[in-house]
Amino acid sequence: MSECPLYVSPELYDELFSPATADAARLERLRASEAFYVAEARRGKNALEIGCGTGRLTIPIAKAGVAITGVDLSAVMLGKAREKAAADEVLIELVEGDMRDFDLGRRFETVLIPGNSLLHMLEERDVERALDAARRHLAPGGRLIFDITLWNDGEGPVRHCTTTLPGGRLIEYDLRVISPGELERYLEAAGLRLDVRYGDFGRQPFTPSSPRQLCSAGHSGRAKATSYTHLDVYKRQARHLPSP
Ligand SMILES: C[S@@+](CC[C@H](N)C(=O)[O-])C[C@H]1O[C@@H](n2cnc3c(N)ncnc32)[C@H](O)[C@@H]1O
Repeated sequence: MSECPLYVSPELYDELFSPATADAARLERLRASEAFYVAEARRGKNALEIGCGTGRLTIPIAKAGVAITGVDLSAVMLGKAREKAAADEVLIELVEGDMRDFDLGRRFETVLIPGNSLLHMLEERDVERALDAARRHLAPGGRLIFDITLWNDGEGPVRHCTTTLPGGRLIEYDLRVISPGELERYLEAAGLRLDVRYGDFGRQPFTPSSPRQLCSAGHSGRAKATSYTHLDVYKRQARHLPSP
């Protein structure tokens, strides 16, 4: 698991994602990602956001009339989300939990893992456990929606990332790299089926040079494999597959 300094400083996180400090391209991306997730969540009556952070997307989704629950590992990020939801007078259920191992005891029509949160799962086993937990919370016929960055420079399976905050402070953290082929195998092993994959928040079709993988998946209806890690045939294939 990666420790990102932003998740102990919710103010820094919100500063990084503030429209006030974003350049035009980033502002466009922030708006497009919010519009995308709100539109997806509105297709169902209720939604679960895994890795909800300070509520950047959770709050607009609640304002759109969707009953939403947010889960996050960081108590301080959740505290900030709670404060912002109260200020905006929206009702959101916020739960502290680890995406690899939580059980809310109910299922949701839409499960979201936005903004690279899945890539904080640095070990294969963590990715498997997170997708398994997401599937267990997905109602029959429900949709799991998530986005992950696609890098094509060969660095991996764990990538060291840096981000400069508006004030100039450098933030360092690690993210897992998941290629398009690996992603399909992870989903299959978790009992999920990839239905749609876009290349960006404008819903352009996915290509190997797209900046991100923006996916919608549902229950595959097939029994879950014991573990992606234990599927030796997949591991052998993965080694010989071209990266995207
Ligand atoms: C990039 S932020 C995304 C926040 C929000 N979804 C957004 O798009 O603004 C990733 C979030 O995942 C949370 N996170 C990281 N590891 C987690 C884990 N194992 N279980 C639950 N949340 C986790 C972090 O605390 C952080 O709030």
